Amino acid sequence: METALTRLVGVRHPLVQTGMGWVAGPRLVSAAANAGALGILASATMTTDQLRDAVREVKSRTDKPFGVNLRADAGDAGDRVRIMIDEGVRVASFALAPSRELIAGLKEAGVVVVPSVGARRHAEKVAAWGADAVIVQGGEGGGHTGEVATSVLLPQVVDAVDIPVVAAGGFHDGRGLVAALAYGAAGIAMGTRFLLTSDSTVPDAVKARYLAATVKDVTVTTAVDGLPHRMLRTEFVEGLERAGRTGALVRAVRRAAGFRRISGLSWSRMVRDGLAMRHGRDLSWSQVLLAANTPMLLKASMVDGRTDLGVMAAGQVAGVIEDLPSCAELVGRVMAQAHEVLDTLPRRDGARPPWAETCGGGPGD
Ligand SMILES: Cc1cc2nc3c(=O)[nH]c(=O)nc-3n(C[C@H](O)[C@H](O)[C@H](O)COP(=O)(O)O)c2cc1C
Repeated sequence: METALTRLVGVRHPLVQTGMGWVAGPRLVSAAANAGALGILASATMTTDQLRDAVREVKSRTDKPFGVNLRADAGDAGDRVRIMIDEGVRVASFALAPSRELIAGLKEAGVVVVPSVGARRHAEKVAAWGADAVIVQGGEGGGHTGEVATSVLLPQVVDAVDIPVVAAGGFHDGRGLVAALAYGAAGIAMGTRFLLTSDSTVPDAVKARYLAATVKDVTVTTAVDGLPHRMLRTEFVEGLERAGRTGALVRAVRRAAGFRRISGLSWSRMVRDGLAMRHGRDLSWSQVLLAANTPMLLKASMVDGRTDLGVMAAGQVAGVIEDLPSCAELVGRVMAQAHEVLDTLPRRDGARPPWAETCGGGPGD
């Protein structure tokens, strides 16, 4: 299925496996790429040396194009971009809108720039600055998320910009792909669905919590880092919500110290990144510190398997996902269903679609 996305980045299918901190490592990214989707490596939780090694590992596992996700506001974003250019990474994905200069530098080096956005005005801004495409995430999506549902935000962004738009937030199957294409998207990006594959390195106990979740077990909270964050509702998250500001702050400092140790970041770099996160938002100083805490909480689940002590970022789709296919099985299944659905849609010539024969009527009956 050829779309503006497959043409732009050179992948076989209009599917993206998104950058997820601690989750989207070399194994998942190369499996997604080998399956014909665009795999995106998450780099915000890596040091620059780890990023270089991870990029090289992906290249050793696949010759297909892939991307790297980074925080545009990170103090060392320039170094990360340099590594991407040196290593010939095809796509740069950003968690927050990158600057005009960053976009220009990447494009000059032949890297395709695809920021993730959660609002129309951000899409308009990065499009005006030269981004090649945008991933637009509706409120259903996992991780930091907005309030507007994909079904409203996606067509709004499609109408506002003239670059390819990739839909994210709430997608897990071929029906979703066709729906997104109908809204004018060039493909879909999935986070939670790719986390729940046999190729993802997330510990089994954590995957089991996702599989057991219903749609009502997925919540949005600001208790972790002050920003709306969609995740599984657990006793730990409820505890964070109950713990007043001081309790949360003490825990935040402790975990931030842990993250500093493993990430090799200096306190000043962490404070700078925290301040960058605060920029333009109404975050208190305690929330700035809490922001430094988030990577540790995600790691506790995604790497250490602590379902009791960590944050399990999740889209609402976690409530409808029930299995752990490989990336190859997942991509094959999504594309097969998309083609099937396209074949069964009502036609303008009045021909009855095949489902009408078995179900006894069409949508209007
Ligand atoms: C566990 C997890 C970690 C995430 N980490 C990041 C990240 O580091 N950077 C980023 O841009 N988005 C991150 N996200 C958001 C995803 O990239 C993606 O936009 C989102 O999962 C799409 O919604 P879906 O889960 O309904 O597919 C994360 C999402 C999850 C579930």
